[in-house]
Formats: sequence, structure tokens, C-alpha cells
Amino acid sequence: MKHIVVLVSGGGTNLQALIDAQKRGEIKGGEITCVISSNSEAYALTRAKENGIKSCVLPRKEFSDNKAYSDALLNVLQEEQADLIVLAGFMTILDVSLIRAFENRIINVHPSLIPSFCGDGFYGLHVHEHALAKGVKLTGATVHFVNEICDGGPIILQKAVAVENGDTPEILQRRVMEQAEWKILPQAVSLFCEDRLTVVDGKAYVDFV
Ligand code: GAR
Repeated sequence: MKHIVVLVSGGGTNLQALIDAQKRGEIKGGEITCVISSNSEAYALTRAKENGIKSCVLPRKEFSDNKAYSDALLNVLQEEQADLIVLAGFMTILDVSLIRAFENRIINVHPSLIPSFCGDGFYGLHVHEHALAKGVKLTGATVHFVNEICDGGPIILQKAVAVENGDTPEILQRRVMEQAEWKILPQAVSLFCEDRLTVVDGKAYVDFV
């Protein structure tokens, strides 16, 4: 069984989707062994506790920069013998040293169809504000491996979601979560744990056998 460590900062609905998928037996070959939060107030911590999953808080504000924070994170990840790191609403940029230590073993969920509405400053509700400001008719979510480029790593899965008249950022965010994020994140995690993902020349391929 691969050890899945989930990194969170907030509400943790994507963590919940992973927990629910695990309970249904849909995460094949892996198990969520630990949840790490950058924020002691994150509701995601309650979700972990309620489901008997070990959790710890590593507050970002207690570290001077991303490098110091990532070094501390690396220690915990090694103690946990992490095989896969899932960024599920994790709002801290990881240092390149950590990304290299876990090359093609860190997965992020992003609430848009990358390469639209991604990169520096595009996170959480802001992504949906930008999508509505542009007037796009389709948006969605992307699950990708994390590399040194913010939201620029190999794309694993994407799912499109319609924008509807009268959408607010909050309404659109909820639809993108329900119709896309909560489905493709557990799928991608299971594919990884089943060894059905490969990366060649910077592109991820899914083995659909
Ligand atoms: C999700 O929409 C996730 O895609 C987004 O933050 C939200 C977290 O919600 N992540 C990013 O924007 C990362 N760039 P959650 O805590 O309920 O899972």
C-alpha cells in the first residue's frame, strides 16, 4: 500500500472527497496515512480527526520563508514514508528542493482548465473571479504533477464545467468542485497508486488498460 500524505490549508472538501473515495474502495493500492495543515484553524483537520486519520499542523507563519518551511515539511514527509503527496487546497508554494525530492510524486488540484487562469495569484476564489471577468463559457479543474513552474507541471486529468448566466464566484466554485475536482482528484490519486501514470518529455500519460 502506498502512503498518501494530503497537504491542506482550509476547508478540506477535496480531502473529504479523497476520504469518501477511500471508504468506497476507489483508491486502489494506496491509503491516506497523514494529513498536514499549514493552518491550525483549517476545518480539514476536523475532517481528518472524524475519520481517524493522523494529522499534524505545520504553521506556515512560524517559518521565515518557503525554503525553511519546505525543509520542515520534508522531515515530516520522510518520517511518514510518504509515497505520494497530494496538495488539496494547500496554499503555500513549495521550495524546489522539496519538489525535486518528490519528482512526479506530488499531485495538485487546480480549479481551472490549465493553462487558463493559473500561475501566480490564481488560487481559490480568485480563479473563478477571473474566469467570470473574462466571460468564458467553459471552465473546469485540472489535476497535475507539481514541478518548478507554478501550475505548470504535467497534466494528469482535466474536466470541463459549464459557466451559467448569473454565476457568482462562489456558485461557480461550488459547481467546479462538485462536477470536476471531487471526481478527478480521487481518480488521479488512484491511478498513481496503481502505477498507471507515466511522465515522458514533460507530459503525463494514463495507462487505461
Ligand atoms: C479548491 O478549489 C482547490 O482547487 C483550490 O482551493 C480550493 C480548496 O478547497 N486550490 C487552488 O486554488 C490551488 N492553486 P478545499 O480546501 O475545500 O479542498
